[in-house]
Amino acid sequence: MSQTQTPPLLQASDLEIAFGGVRAADGVNLTVNAGEFVAIIGPNGSGKTTFLNICTGYLKPTRGTVRLEGRDITHLPPRTIARQGIARAFQIPQLFTDHTLIDNLMLSIAARRGIWQALRPLDRPEYRAEAMELLQLLGLEKSAGAMTGTLPEGLRKLADITLAFALNPRLLVLDEPTSGVSSIERFEIMETLMRAARQRGLSALFVEHDMEIVEKYADRVVVWNAGSVMAEGRPAEVLKDPRVIESVVGVA
Ligand SMILES: Nc1ncnc2c1ncn2[C@@H]1O[C@H](COP(=O)(O)OP(=O)(O)O)[C@@H](O)[C@H]1O
Ligand SMILES: [Mg+2]
Repeated sequence: MSQTQTPPLLQASDLEIAFGGVRAADGVNLTVNAGEFVAIIGPNGSGKTTFLNICTGYLKPTRGTVRLEGRDITHLPPRTIARQGIARAFQIPQLFTDHTLIDNLMLSIAARRGIWQALRPLDRPEYRAEAMELLQLLGLEKSAGAMTGTLPEGLRKLADITLAFALNPRLLVLDEPTSGVSSIERFEIMETLMRAARQRGLSALFVEHDMEIVEKYADRVVVWNAGSVMAEGRPAEVLKDPRVIESVVGVA
């Protein structure tokens, strides 16, 4: 009896890229399954952001493949990858700071529906309704009319994440979603983000420096070292591994 196996949501195989003499990806293999929250940790310069750049199409590897539900997306442009289901929130929020939050969201929704529509009025009732729904999902409805440049850092991070949700992804890719905010706010951001992702059935792949956050929110943690994966598994176990402590936790 043969069963058809569903391919993983994301499967990166044998990725390689070098910048000058630096091998930023050196045989990277990583899988994310549907519904999983996977954290990436590792020292600065070990290639974590490079990996996210490859998965989202911003960098092209010299070897290896990235598959989304079995389809090879390695050489597709970022916009196409986003449309196919991988949405990225950046370490530095990408909001238009002199526009309101809801305008930013309507722009993102319009972009998802096709560039040509960006030339049509963005403030349409169906965009506004969808934007409000997203703001409620992320607990930002009170900030709908605020200029994003005036939002406090924590809310700005959530706002940027809301833009990624607006692309209707299956996988959210986040580069240090909690960097630069107080530790109380960090937990609030993660709590809100993870609850919203669960409600929508999304998976998440996020780079994180705070080990308490990793322990609390990741189903699995993957440890980067010099362009490749040195360990992975359940946070409670991996974060106790002396090799991991020496390379990452001890210096975090
Ligand atoms: N676009 C680029 N051009 C040149 N070098 C790069 C580029 N992106 C990353 N690097 C280099 O690759 C290595 C890994 O960087 P990065 O992926 O940003 O690490 P991390 O996110 O783990 O701190 C670093 O040595 C960095 O300087
Ligand atoms: Mg980085």
